Amino acid sequence: MMLWSAILNSNIQNVITEVTSVSNMQLEEKIPSGDESNPCISKSTRLPRKRFYRARAHSNPLSDSHFPVPISPHHVEYSSHYPHFFPSADSNPKKIEFADVGCGFGGLLISLATLYPDTLMIGMELRDKVTEYVKERILALRVSTPGQYQNVSVVRTNSMKYIPNYFEKSQLSKMFFLFPDPHFKEKNHRRRVISPFLLDEYAYAIRPGGIIYTITDVEELGEWMKSCLEDHPMFESLTEEELEADPVVKLLSCATEEGQKVSRNGGQTFKAVYRRIIPKV
Ligand SMILES: C[S@@+](CC[C@H](N)C(=O)[O-])C[C@H]1O[C@@H](n2cnc3c(N)ncnc32)[C@H](O)[C@@H]1O
Repeated sequence: MMLWSAILNSNIQNVITEVTSVSNMQLEEKIPSGDESNPCISKSTRLPRKRFYRARAHSNPLSDSHFPVPISPHHVEYSSHYPHFFPSADSNPKKIEFADVGCGFGGLLISLATLYPDTLMIGMELRDKVTEYVKERILALRVSTPGQYQNVSVVRTNSMKYIPNYFEKSQLSKMFFLFPDPHFKEKNHRRRVISPFLLDEYAYAIRPGGIIYTITDVEELGEWMKSCLEDHPMFESLTEEELEADPVVKLLSCATEEGQKVSRNGGQTFKAVYRRIIPKV
């Protein structure tokens, strides 16, 4: 708890000069402009075209980017992310339950949105253009399939710094880390999104019984993620039967853009799926 409040305090110091809203990523109801004047949107599908949202392959998660960060989970603007569920700013019927960390172009979220239509979920993505693409993708889907995709949103943020700003203790039931950047060099391992230190944060945000899903095509990273989870007192691995029974596990290798690329190239993947437990004392 001491560690957690230290993290929270330092984050609050970091963001003290920043605004308290997430306004630049708000998903307000609007019609994506798929007209002649907006080449970024496909005329036939009305979905954003990825080539207009190209970004550098990697961002440095340790550098200080400038984007708005909510000063606490209570300051996350649910009504702008999920207007269908929160018709006014003070209605508060639900909380975000799933977080896709480093969501990239959002493929997993799009699959999960219809599989769990009543669960609020959010993608956290560091690259601004990629985040913008996901935002446009969700808006377009909301328009083309009325009533659907209202439960999914995205935010540009650095998950290595700001998880505590978004989620309360035990708020999440699922966290996803699909094909995270491998940061091969040993000196860059501190940039990895799974580490013993960050698992402490994730254990705080995930409720007991909640699940953390990881997958990669880099064997060494797969072993690293597995060993970090295995060594952590607040996580235990799912059994083969549990993995088989969980519909989400099947999506890990095929729902995201990175997963599809790996599968097209016939690459191998390495999963680690762990449950948040209450450690025995
Ligand atoms: C290799 S891509 C995988 C994207 C997606 N999960 C998929 O499977 O297609 C890793 C993504 O994580 C994002 N990322 C890396 N570090 C991050 C951080 N600290 N916070 C949020 N996103 C991050 C990158 O910008 C990139 O889009």
